[in-house]
Amino acid sequence: MEVAELTGDISAPADVRFELTAQRTELTLASGAKVEAWTYNGEAVPELRVKEGQMVEVVLANRDVEAGVSIHWHGYDVPNAMDGIPGMTQNAVKPGESFRYKFRAKQTGTYWFHSHQQSSEQVEKGLFGRLIVEPAEEPSPYDVEETIVLHRWKTDRGYRTAFGLEDGTRTLPIPSGRTVRLRIINTDNLSAAYLLQGTPYAVTAIDGTPIRQAALLPENTSLRIGSGGRYDLTFRMPDGPVYLKAGAADAPEGPVLVLSPDNDAPAPVFQPASGSFEPGHYGEAVENEVTAEAAKFDREFRMIFGNRMGFYNGVFHFLWTINGRVLPNTPTFVVKEGEKVKMTFVNRSLAEHPMHLHGHHMTVLKHNGKRVVTPWITDTLNVAPGDTYEVGFVADNPGMWMDHCHNLYHAATGMILHLMYDGVRPSYEAGTRSGNLPD
Ligand code: C2O
Ligand code: CU
Repeated sequence: MEVAELTGDISAPADVRFELTAQRTELTLASGAKVEAWTYNGEAVPELRVKEGQMVEVVLANRDVEAGVSIHWHGYDVPNAMDGIPGMTQNAVKPGESFRYKFRAKQTGTYWFHSHQQSSEQVEKGLFGRLIVEPAEEPSPYDVEETIVLHRWKTDRGYRTAFGLEDGTRTLPIPSGRTVRLRIINTDNLSAAYLLQGTPYAVTAIDGTPIRQAALLPENTSLRIGSGGRYDLTFRMPDGPVYLKAGAADAPEGPVLVLSPDNDAPAPVFQPASGSFEPGHYGEAVENEVTAEAAKFDREFRMIFGNRMGFYNGVFHFLWTINGRVLPNTPTFVVKEGEKVKMTFVNRSLAEHPMHLHGHHMTVLKHNGKRVVTPWITDTLNVAPGDTYEVGFVADNPGMWMDHCHNLYHAATGMILHLMYDGVRPSYEAGTRSGNLPD
């Protein structure tokens, strides 16, 4: 099989269709700071909202982004030919060209999409959006839904962190008693701690996957979301205001969301976090083919993260390495369809590395050598310095896939490896000659 043939069955007509045109756009944050942005459709963080089971078609065009663009469906396990990786699963879409993505919406939940051509630059500049997939059956069980996208924009006043385009305080009126779901997406390169205060809340999904029996957390619990990660938080609106921010309680900078039952909330004051949310000890444990204590794995791979100085693309850099190497010298992990795979991440470097595996979801099994009480499912696992994680997955989506650090600056200097299925042949070529620059 060739990558280009791995489209899945897309013979059925599309149920829903979108057009996204990459274009240079000037965006203005709420403070007035200006961003020389690149966007899809001239918008900051456009939303694609579809229903489970629908055949989705998205036509990507490029008006004037010189280097070419693509769309990667982050966390959405589409067939390989729809994964949006220039030089691996398609050619970069140059100005005047277009590419058609078509896939069936099989997973529900909170996802996002972004260009995967020179991603560290293109994502920072705004080539990303939200992908929300609602369950087929019912309308939302929540009265109010809000999606919060944390992004760090490069503006004419320096870097500014915002929820969407809001880099100050925004107030949203919500009558008390209403049920609320906040979907939080972190599109920044670094993880952030989030404080949601004024009400106890539950974490009802991580990276799009629902958590069963999600209990309310003690008040003032904080949570940390790594780059590329998504958490859904739910609560019932209390009589008083609810505040959300990213960062430490006393950090003066950064956006704040105020949910107010009466439109007259006092200025937000944050308490220090009472504790930190621990996904390995929460809700009902996931049980699947890889979680059994006695599960046998067909393949085991190990990634050790380190750092050293060295050349990358002819430039002397501080390098973030996998097993001592950077792309194209990182190992390639080869699997066969149907195999159970165990992957171990060992972080011996000085920074966190949010590891993102394309095309598959990982179940977290062990943290620092101990089995987690409640295995959970993720597509982007933040590995802190000194930490070790063991994850498992089933190789059930044939193709050539990226597995990389979602600090896109680290990826841009080679912190990437490839997961290859035995017998899958390439259809495209990466590198400056082809113009396909997938990092
Ligand atoms: Cu969100 Cu390889 O990317
Ligand atoms: Cu990294």
